[in-house]
Amino acid sequence: MESFVYVAGAVLLILMSFILSSRPRRKLPPGPYPLPIIGNMLQLDRKIHYSFTKLSKQYGPLMSIHLGSLYSVVVSSPEMAKEILQKHGQVFSGRIMLQALQVCDHDKLSIGFMPASNIWRELRKICKEHLFSHKSLEASNGLRQWKLQQLLDYVQRCCDSGRAVNIREAAFTTTLNLMSTTLFSIEATEFDSEVTREFKEIMEGVSNIALASNLGDFFPILKPFDLQGIKRKAEGCLGKLRDKVEGYLNQRLEWRKANPDAPKKTDFLETLVDIMEATDSGHFTTDHLIHLLMDLFAGAADSTSITTEWIMTELMINPEKLAKVKEELKSVVGDKKKVVEESQMARLPYLQAVVKEVLRYHPPGPLLLPRKAESDQQLNGGYFIPKGTQIFINAWAIGRDPTIWKNPDSFEPERFLDKNIDLIGGQDYEFIPFGSGRRICPGAPLANRMLHMTTATLIHNFDWKLEDAAADHRAEQNGMPHCRAAPLTILPIN
Ligand code: HEM
Repeated sequence: MESFVYVAGAVLLILMSFILSSRPRRKLPPGPYPLPIIGNMLQLDRKIHYSFTKLSKQYGPLMSIHLGSLYSVVVSSPEMAKEILQKHGQVFSGRIMLQALQVCDHDKLSIGFMPASNIWRELRKICKEHLFSHKSLEASNGLRQWKLQQLLDYVQRCCDSGRAVNIREAAFTTTLNLMSTTLFSIEATEFDSEVTREFKEIMEGVSNIALASNLGDFFPILKPFDLQGIKRKAEGCLGKLRDKVEGYLNQRLEWRKANPDAPKKTDFLETLVDIMEATDSGHFTTDHLIHLLMDLFAGAADSTSITTEWIMTELMINPEKLAKVKEELKSVVGDKKKVVEESQMARLPYLQAVVKEVLRYHPPGPLLLPRKAESDQQLNGGYFIPKGTQIFINAWAIGRDPTIWKNPDSFEPERFLDKNIDLIGGQDYEFIPFGSGRRICPGAPLANRMLHMTTATLIHNFDWKLEDAAADHRAEQNGMPHCRAAPLTILPIN
C-alpha cells in the first residue's frame, strides 16, 4: 500500500510538471520585487507619478507594480501607450471599479467609469453630437462669450477695488456657469459667493475621490472599514452632486408637464429628456441621465480651472513669455478692452503653444484615468497582461522624457511652434493630456476653446502682479489631481 502511494505521488508530480511546462509562457513586465501582502506600496510616495517615473527608469516603459493585491502595469513611452490605447484599444478600454465610486452606483451609471458597453457608446455619441461637435460648439459660442464677459467684469471690479483674484476660483466659476447654462439653462453660482465655494468643495471632492489611493481598493479585506474615510467622503460629495442634478431634472420634468405647449428650452437637459422619452427600450434611464450630467459638470470644472491656474502661474513666473502672449494678442485683437473671440484663435499660435506647453509640463491627470484590461492580452515585446490588470499611462513621464523633449524640465512654449503636434486628437502619443483611443476625453474640444479664451481674456485686458513673488509657485499638492499646493492669487492692473 505504502509503495502504491509513492508511485501515485511520483506520477502526479510528473503529470503536473508536464502540464505546467506545456502551458504558453506568460512573461509579466519587469518591476520592483513585491513584498508579500503590501506589494510595492513602500516604494511609492504621495506624488505617485514621480515614484512611477523614477522606477520606470530602472525597469523600463512597461513595468509591473503590485498595489497590495491589485496588479498594475505602468506605461511610460509613446510606443507602449500607442500599443495599449490604439492597437489593443478594445481590450484596455475598461476602468477599475473603485470602492468610492460604488456610492450611488456611480461606477455602473457614470460614462467615465462604466464598462465600455452599448449604453456607454450611446451616451458618448449623444455628448459628441449635441455638445462637443464642431457644429454644436459653434452654436454655443455666444454663451461662452457671455460667460467670459462676466469674468472680465468681475476682474475689472477686483481691479477697481485693488483686490487680488484667485485664478482657480475665477476660472472654476466661469466654467461651472458655462456648464450649468449649457446643460440646464441655470446660472449655478456667482463669483466669490458661498454657493461657488460649496460647488467647488463638491467638485474637488469628486475628483479627489476618483483619483485617491484607497487602501480598500488594494486590500479588499479592508473595504468594510473605510480606514481613510474615502467612501464616507464619496457619499457626501457624490450624494450632494446627485441631489443637485436630480433637482434640476425634476424641475424640468414638472415644467414640461405644466407647460406642454410652451416652446422648448434649447439646453442639453431638454435634448436628453427628449431622447430618453423617445427611447422606449428602457435601457437609457433617468439614472443614466443624472449621472451623465454629474460627469459633465465634474469633468469640466476641476480640470479646466486647475489648468488655467497653471497657465497663469507659468506666465507670471516667465514674464518674457507673458510679454510675447500680450504682444500677439495686441496685434490680433487690437487695443480695445474686450473678450477675445474664438474665431481669432487660429491667429494666436504663441498662445496655443503656451497652452500645449502647460499641458505637457503640468497635465492635471498625470496618469490619465487608469484603464483596466478586459481580457488577457499578449503584447509586442512578448509581455503578457492578465485580465483585470490596472493600467496607468504615465503621461507626465512621457512629457518629461529627455529622449523625446529637449530640456524637458524647462518651460519653453517655443518648442511647439515648429512641431505639428495636435492637442486634443490623442494621436501624437508623446503628448496625450486628454488621453487617447476609445475613452479619450469627450470634452477636449470644449476644454480647448475655454483654456485659450479664458487665458486670452485675462491677459489681453489686464496687467498682473504676483501677491507673493518669493513663493515657490510650482509647488504641487500631494496626491491627485496635479494642482498647485497653494492657490494663485494675483492683482489685476489696468
Ligand atoms: C483641461 C481640461 C481637461 C483635461 C486635461 C481632461 C483630461 C481627461 C482625461 C485624461 C481623461 C481620460 C481619458 C482616457 O482614459 O484616455 C478624461 C476623460 C473624461 N473627461 Fe476630460 N479633461 C478635461 C476637460 C473635460 C471637460 C471640459 C469635460 C466635459 C465637459 C470632460 C469630460 C470627461 C469625461 C466624461 C471623461 C470620461 C470619458 C470615458 O471614460 O469614456 N473633460 N478627461
